[in-house]
Amino acid sequence: MPDASPQTIYLKDYKPFGWIIDDVHLTFRLHPTATRVISRIRFRPDHDVHDRPFFLHGEDLKTISIRVDGHEPTIYEQSGGITVDVPDAPFNWEAEVEINPSANTALEGLYMSNGMYCTQCEAEGFRKITWYPDRPDVMAKFTVRIESDAEHTPVMLSNGNGLYYEQDSTKTPAPNVTIYQDPWPKPAYLFALVAGDLVAHEDSFTTVSGKEVHLAIWVRPGDEHKCAFGMEALKKSMKWDEDVYGREYDLDEFNIVAVDDFNMGAMENKGLNIFNSSCVLASPETSTDANFERIEAIIAHEYFHNWTGNRITCRDWFQLCLKEGLTVFRDQQFTDDMRSAPVARISNVLALRARQFPEDQGPLSHPVRPESFQEINNFYTATVYEKGSEVIGMLKTLVGDEAYAKALNLYFDRHDGDAATIEDWLKVFEDATGRDLSQFKRWYSQSGTPRVTVREEYAQDTLTLHISQRTAPTPGQETKEPQIIPIAVGLLNPNGDEVQETTVLELRDSEQSFSFPGHASRPVPSILRGFSAPVLLDQEIDADRRAFLLAHDTDPFNRWESGRMLARESLLSSVKEGSAPNAAYLDGLKLVLRDDTLDPAYRALMLGQPSQSELAGLLHDAGHVPAPEAIHAASEALRQAKADHLSDILPGLYADHQVEEPFSAEAGPAGQRALANAALDLLTRLDGGATAAMQYTRADNMTQQLAALGALLDADQGQEALTAFYDQWRDDRLVIDKWFSLQVLHAKPGDAADVARRLTNHMDFDWKNPNRFRALLGALQMHHAGFHHESGAAYELLADWLIRLDPVNPQTTARMSTAFQTWKRYDTKRQALIGAQLDRISKQPELSRDTTEMITRIRG
Ligand code: PHE
Ligand code: ZN
Repeated sequence: MPDASPQTIYLKDYKPFGWIIDDVHLTFRLHPTATRVISRIRFRPDHDVHDRPFFLHGEDLKTISIRVDGHEPTIYEQSGGITVDVPDAPFNWEAEVEINPSANTALEGLYMSNGMYCTQCEAEGFRKITWYPDRPDVMAKFTVRIESDAEHTPVMLSNGNGLYYEQDSTKTPAPNVTIYQDPWPKPAYLFALVAGDLVAHEDSFTTVSGKEVHLAIWVRPGDEHKCAFGMEALKKSMKWDEDVYGREYDLDEFNIVAVDDFNMGAMENKGLNIFNSSCVLASPETSTDANFERIEAIIAHEYFHNWTGNRITCRDWFQLCLKEGLTVFRDQQFTDDMRSAPVARISNVLALRARQFPEDQGPLSHPVRPESFQEINNFYTATVYEKGSEVIGMLKTLVGDEAYAKALNLYFDRHDGDAATIEDWLKVFEDATGRDLSQFKRWYSQSGTPRVTVREEYAQDTLTLHISQRTAPTPGQETKEPQIIPIAVGLLNPNGDEVQETTVLELRDSEQSFSFPGHASRPVPSILRGFSAPVLLDQEIDADRRAFLLAHDTDPFNRWESGRMLARESLLSSVKEGSAPNAAYLDGLKLVLRDDTLDPAYRALMLGQPSQSELAGLLHDAGHVPAPEAIHAASEALRQAKADHLSDILPGLYADHQVEEPFSAEAGPAGQRALANAALDLLTRLDGGATAAMQYTRADNMTQQLAALGALLDADQGQEALTAFYDQWRDDRLVIDKWFSLQVLHAKPGDAADVARRLTNHMDFDWKNPNRFRALLGALQMHHAGFHHESGAAYELLADWLIRLDPVNPQTTARMSTAFQTWKRYDTKRQALIGAQLDRISKQPELSRDTTEMITRIRG
């Protein structure tokens, strides 16, 4: 039953299902093209609900039989499912359906990846497995029996605890049978099944109350050596959640499976997390430090979902941020504790500005809790995840650490086993603190990035900050109410000593003034410390003041931010006025880099500069039309100026941060490599690639090998190394993804589209694999000057491939179409070029619901 015209679903229309499920028994008879799924479900009416039509979701199911209390019921086919005549009393449902996992290229429901069966059910994939009320507020206990031909699938897994290998003698030949039982009620989106030829990296964890949990990471034979790091991350996560949130694991086993074909990063299925192999497999030779860090965070994220997402789930998909914002916040806290908190904070803000700000300030802007959607897959966004996490961070800042802990305990006590809402979440904070959070709630309902403007006044020993806020209109929201914005502020005296430690101002109105009396000399404020709110900050301060803060701010985030602002202002004036790089920035940077007391990872971040797309956004914001080639030139010029200005310290920075000890992915040595590689990037501009060539030859880990290769490509010296790299790694899928990306990222702007097009013809461009598709076409979108080259070739190439991928994998297509979301920033010629591609995509017959919704919204 294909969905003809896309329907819009509204939060305000929420209605409970009307039926309660006692238990679900599923039997899978696995077959690559004809898997049978038999479901036996006990339903009873929910008498609190009066109107209770019995509607079950189902998509692409071949029904073999349906029985209600043993009889064939009357069935009414509807779009997306069926309504069935059932008694208004408890009854037994039995259905048998056939599905074809091999034909499932969308990677939702049950599908095959390299000969292995696996599932992905969030958000609405379970309806492709059997008839079911596929909605998160229907929770049930599942028992799953998996039958298969043992030859191809020696390992079979599902949620909960395994009751292993029962031989069934009634079948000839006797099939392999595994039964899994999950004692915890869960929504269908957390269901998972995996079967295949897998090997395990095993371990165990003893919980705080002394229960031993069997841990396993399951991978394809040949990947066993890439599991150790993930396993350590898992054990650290389990311990951390006990220590910091008092949350203990609740099953006898915990399984992680790595799959190569996966639309997203990973999935928190109860007791059986399924990971994109790129987000769990790691080894020093094949993974960069950034990969290790990301893997650690994602393992933690999925594990933490066990409580925030699984034990307490979402009532409906509009509440997605309830689990995602909170779980991102928790994984960020975990990373702060495992690594350097200031470095982690800066990295998170960089990601927020790179992904969430453009979304929130463009045609795809939506609230952290959206109010309508056509395809829920399109709302797994940076806004729901990252801004959702920022909102929780602000809540914690406003109520304080102790009240936050109290509120979280109340949340777990009160809502364990519930499918909850944002209202429930905020009520817990109100009850725990006595605070009225009705204004705070606007962070969930208003989209857009608030712009905060600060004006200073100093008179009679008093510094006054006049602060105002304004949020520009966003699609569907013409007017905005003031939000409550926590602004962390500290004051420094002119010697650089802190005279007022960090204090949090609560901006509630559109304009407010805050006074700091008792300062005989005019203090210098450091505003929005730690990036205490996800806002744009406008502050008229000159370069000397920024340089002063870069040298003295006691808040590590704002110290970094001052350098960033100097770099930003330098770049913007060189784009607008052709001016030379700012000397105050270059001098300040040198001082910071020379300071050996500063963490190398922090200094490496100091060496970075705003990305070209960030600059394009800023220019647009300031009323200019960004010219990608001018932005590219200014960025390159600033890099060259840094190389020249730092030429006397770069060799030392590089040499002093070589790690002698055997490889470790921990923050310390990773930070040293980060600084050495940041220095290498600049050194290459001075030595033509000599140091990079040496590093490439000597590298015994991917962080150094890849950085050297990138530097060589920048110096036009990389062709030979590129071939050698391919020959060395041709059998490693994840490294070959890097090989695809790197060539596009390091292409000259005018060549990027050609390089990408040429690579689409490479025999390893397996475009149906989402990782490979993203490696190539995602890299093209990230190459700002290449993607926006005036020829329009990159726009056309991306559109060609989106059109090709859409019928195969709508979810990934829709996600990749966001490359066009900023199109209205650019000149009319580029807008016409992009507009033509958007038209071409939207005119495709049978364009998926996912992509239709995205293109429609992007076009505005
Ligand atoms: N829920 C997953 C996570 O955040 C993300 C995901 C969504 C994965 C949809 C697959 C499909 O960890
Ligand atoms: Zn998540």
